[in-house]
Amino acid sequence: MARADNDTWDITESVGATALGVAAARAAESESENPLISDPFARVFLDAAGEGMWTWFAAPNLPAEIVEAEPELQPRMRGMVDYMAARTSFFDQFFLDATRAGVAQVVILAAGLDSRAWRLPWPDGTTVYELDQPRVLEFKSATLREHGARPTCNLVPVPVDLRHDWPAALQGAGFDAEAPGAWSAEGLLPFLPAVAHELLFERVHALGAAGSRIAVEAPGPDFLDEAAIARRRANMRRIRDLMAKLEPDRDLPEVQDLWYFEEREDVGDWLRRHGWDVTVTPAEQMMADCGRRPPQNIEDAAPSTLFVSAGRGAGVSPE
Ligand SMILES: C[S@@+](CC[C@H](N)C(=O)[O-])C[C@H]1O[C@@H](n2cnc3c(N)ncnc32)[C@H](O)[C@@H]1O
Repeated sequence: MARADNDTWDITESVGATALGVAAARAAESESENPLISDPFARVFLDAAGEGMWTWFAAPNLPAEIVEAEPELQPRMRGMVDYMAARTSFFDQFFLDATRAGVAQVVILAAGLDSRAWRLPWPDGTTVYELDQPRVLEFKSATLREHGARPTCNLVPVPVDLRHDWPAALQGAGFDAEAPGAWSAEGLLPFLPAVAHELLFERVHALGAAGSRIAVEAPGPDFLDEAAIARRRANMRRIRDLMAKLEPDRDLPEVQDLWYFEEREDVGDWLRRHGWDVTVTPAEQMMADCGRRPPQNIEDAAPSTLFVSAGRGAGVSPE
């Protein structure tokens, strides 16, 4: 599905459905033998959303017919689940470290179906602002309310489009730009046009008092590499064709069609240039740190993204 400047979506549509894809991976991981993370709400979201392409990602045991026709598919899916599990654990740890060090405001940009506000042991007094499109946040809060779940922090949903004036919405909801915040951008940047991406960091920088921290899943060096894009597309097309034979009604969207393939400044460089102390960890290293390795004999079995974490010391002035 093509993107448009002011497009909006429900949880089962367009970019919204990608949040269900991530929830499916978290459900598969949480229900596996030695899970890296435990997200008891991931399955709740999938059950509430009903059947869709995301159902495949939450069902690690594929039909024999598919495994036979495409032996790489199962290890590829396992590689993606491992990647999502490690990514979730990385951001969990980032937030726990920041809040235990005294940062009391958390801002989750594009929260999707991330359930951290309901499952992490936040220190008393932590406020978590969740930003995403209105219908995504409505689905999430209605589903968890019906399930009887309660936030483990002071949760403030901020329904807003991140291409619009989200700082006004965030500050209107109570965010204090004079106090430090812990920010995250996980599974977000490729869905933003390059201009909105750049503006996002300018705005975080403008709102980021000394002592603030940020963690970002950033596009890797092959983001604009035409051969890599074509390879991922070809893989996806084979999988779609196979699955369509089994279940013609279940549509499997091409995530790359929802991305903006536009030149962007490297996130680590941008933050460094603006005075933040930056650490960059390539995805493969981040996964290895969690004891997970993408299958070595399969090309592109996990994304080659970069995990950037940064802090802003006292005395750093905006550029
Ligand atoms: C791949 S999901 C990731 C969700 C969550 N961060 C996670 O890792 O589970 C992408 C999310 O970005 C949100 N998103 C993308 N572009 C957005 C925009 N312009 N405004 C608000 N939310 C946006 C989508 O609604 C969706 O929830």
